[in-house]
Amino acid sequence: MSEAVQPVLSMRGIDKSFGGLRAVIDGHLEAHAGEVLAIVGDNGAGKSTLIKVLTGVYQADAGEIRVGGQPAHFRNRRDSINAGIDAVYQNLALVDLLPAPANVFLGHERVVKVLGIPFLDNRGMRRETVRILQERVGVHLDGLDQPALNLSGGQRQAVAIARAVNAADLKVLVLDEPVAALGPQETKATLDLVRSVRDKGIAVIIISHNLEHVFAVADRVQVMRGGRVVGVVNTAESTKREVLGLIVGAETEEVLEA
Ligand SMILES: Nc1ncnc2c1ncn2[C@@H]1O[C@H](COP(=O)(O)OP(=O)(O)OP(=O)(O)O)[C@@H](O)[C@H]1O
Ligand SMILES: [Mg+2]
Repeated sequence: MSEAVQPVLSMRGIDKSFGGLRAVIDGHLEAHAGEVLAIVGDNGAGKSTLIKVLTGVYQADAGEIRVGGQPAHFRNRRDSINAGIDAVYQNLALVDLLPAPANVFLGHERVVKVLGIPFLDNRGMRRETVRILQERVGVHLDGLDQPALNLSGGQRQAVAIARAVNAADLKVLVLDEPVAALGPQETKATLDLVRSVRDKGIAVIIISHNLEHVFAVADRVQVMRGGRVVGVVNTAESTKREVLGLIVGAETEEVLEA
């Protein structure tokens, strides 16, 4: 990715404390359209907190967020979604008893009027769901009429992403530990999904503890330790060993330079 290209999203100088605990210190990140950025780090490193500041769940004590170069202020999750940023958490994502289209349109259901009486436009929502999955997410989904309960973990992820894409003009998709509870097949499907969404021009930020996955899917990796960003590397020019060194804080030159 050329340096001249403006990031679709940038965060700078983000501080966030909980009481006396400094969860994020001078946090920053840049996300580019059509790129996967991984955030890695030990438990408690501040990854989720930085992302929750981005998605309006938490308000930062200091720092700035820019979307498309313009300053943005997210007081809540809705503000962030309206700016084209959304996060998908695997298990919280879907209403189990509803099929995929109803989940994709949850909260902004389409209605048609027949003889002046409003009805849910189930056919329209189903058609649009197929289109979004195909054109924006890049997957074909069987079981569109099944309750979400019957979908596999990977399929649920696809539906949750389609919902995020549908909720706004999605520019940045955040996945916090998307494969944590998935088996090997499902994991592969989800990583394929990440690539597919990226290829549609969305900036994807993925938090993961699995460096195997990170190196398989991410263009850049950002390492956090003790609330700080301690390094950002291009996966093509780095190794799992180097990233692991940054995560645990081995006294390597890279760490000292970061
Ligand atoms: N709502 C909160 N209230 C108090 N402390 C919090 C809160 N959220 C996070 N923390 C603390 O902030 C620090 C960073 O937590 P965070 O969840 O960002 O870590 P993480 O890098 O996502 O870790 P993990 O890999 O375990 O998910 C931790 O010490 C955590 O206990
Ligand atoms: Mg976390």
